[in-house]
Amino acid sequence: MNRPKKNLYIKTYGCQMNVYDSEQIALILGRDYDLTDRPEEADLYLINTCSIRRKSEEKVLSLVGRLKGLKNRRPQMLLGVGGCVAQQEGERLLQRAPHLDLVFGAQGIYRLPHLLHQRLESGKAVVDTSFSADLPYISGQVKPGAPKKLVTIMQGCNNYCTYCVVPYVRGPERSRPAAEVINEVQDFLRQGGQEVTLLGQNVNSYGKGLADGLSFPGLLRRLAKLPGLVRLRFTTSHPRDLSDDLICCFAELPPLCDHIHLPVQAGSNHILARMHRGYTREEYLHKVNRLRQICPGISLTTDLIVGFPGETEADFADTLALMREVAFDAAFYFKYSPRPQTAAAALVDQIPEPVKAERLARLRILQEELSLASNQRLVGQFKEVLVEGLSKQQNQQLCGRLRSNQVVNFDGPQDLIGRMVWVRIEKANLHSLGGHRCQP
Ligand code: SAH
Ligand code: SF4
Ligand code: F3S
Repeated sequence: MNRPKKNLYIKTYGCQMNVYDSEQIALILGRDYDLTDRPEEADLYLINTCSIRRKSEEKVLSLVGRLKGLKNRRPQMLLGVGGCVAQQEGERLLQRAPHLDLVFGAQGIYRLPHLLHQRLESGKAVVDTSFSADLPYISGQVKPGAPKKLVTIMQGCNNYCTYCVVPYVRGPERSRPAAEVINEVQDFLRQGGQEVTLLGQNVNSYGKGLADGLSFPGLLRRLAKLPGLVRLRFTTSHPRDLSDDLICCFAELPPLCDHIHLPVQAGSNHILARMHRGYTREEYLHKVNRLRQICPGISLTTDLIVGFPGETEADFADTLALMREVAFDAAFYFKYSPRPQTAAAALVDQIPEPVKAERLARLRILQEELSLASNQRLVGQFKEVLVEGLSKQQNQQLCGRLRSNQVVNFDGPQDLIGRMVWVRIEKANLHSLGGHRCQP
């Protein structure tokens, strides 16, 4: 007779790679645990963490603190912290939060059944922050019937941008064999999936060190041929390594969507050099022009950091000027946050907090103007939308994305979820569009 399964609750912070890892955790533990969305019913409560900025880390620590109460009320519940903060802090987390049962890094997820066993046998908290050379993966679908899926194709990063903690918490760059990636995508398509987003910190380095010799554009070409794949996306491509071969894929491969996230970080050559980004503003602008030549109307989004050590008012003005010149369709923007082990944290010319805040506010005003103008250009157009689910804001409405990645909310029956429909764009907001379903 089957034992009844226990309840697993996972709280996920950070990037899409963490979202993928949390899905993997659910599959890895699927024999003994069912996912629940009610934390108060959890037998195992896992927090998958992010350490990219200090604020991300503080959020985790404050949640761990608050969970002391739940742990007291449910002493049988096991509480674990995984992901990038766990990797960074290791044993130190146990000193800060003795009520934790498990601490495991991003690579530790495949050892979770063993770690849980060890915790129950020994009665003591278990820490596992070792890296492994291979990249295991468990096949299966957490949300059967979902129209889109994330697929991690590589782990880690070797770039060592001077502000960034990722190479320390995710380890060196390693790629998954192409055959395995293709199998994972094929499995998903067989179950009716339509859209795949390939994930890596620098997808253009994909394939280095693999025996099959397939480059990233080579992988895209193989995937684009798979029957049933309607939309293919990837993130993130590093501007330095964005090759002409990859740019050409946007014209060549019908499933590849007309959107690229190309984080520029700053517009001043002085700051880009100090960040160790390996490109100049001129080189970045040249690649943007080439992308627009190959794929007219391609949607371009970016990441920006303000207040990097040594950033002068003139450097910051260069960032604003570059934003205007490119006219990014959307952007994520952050105040520079010193991170453990990173080179920039040791620089002496740190920018005072009020200056960072003031620059961020000015940058936000400009990006909001650009984002709104970009969305307004879509009003009146007929667009294909992959319906993903119910809108977060208006629960009665459906929500989906254009090929160029903008979110659209519109009225329609729930049985359209998972289907491709045509929508006339009627309204432009800052972060989304409104529309009406129609025939093209
Ligand atoms: N691999 C991606 C970025 C991953 S991190 C790339 O190279 O583009 C996501 C974003 O967080 C970065 O693009 C950067 O804008 C921001 N970021 C990273 N470290 C940061 C720090 N120390 N302070 C502020 N923002 C940071
Ligand atoms: Fe961080 Fe740079 Fe690697 Fe991106 S490329 S993850 S910003 S070190
Ligand atoms: Fe955060 Fe780790 Fe991703 S630090 S951004 S969760 S790789």
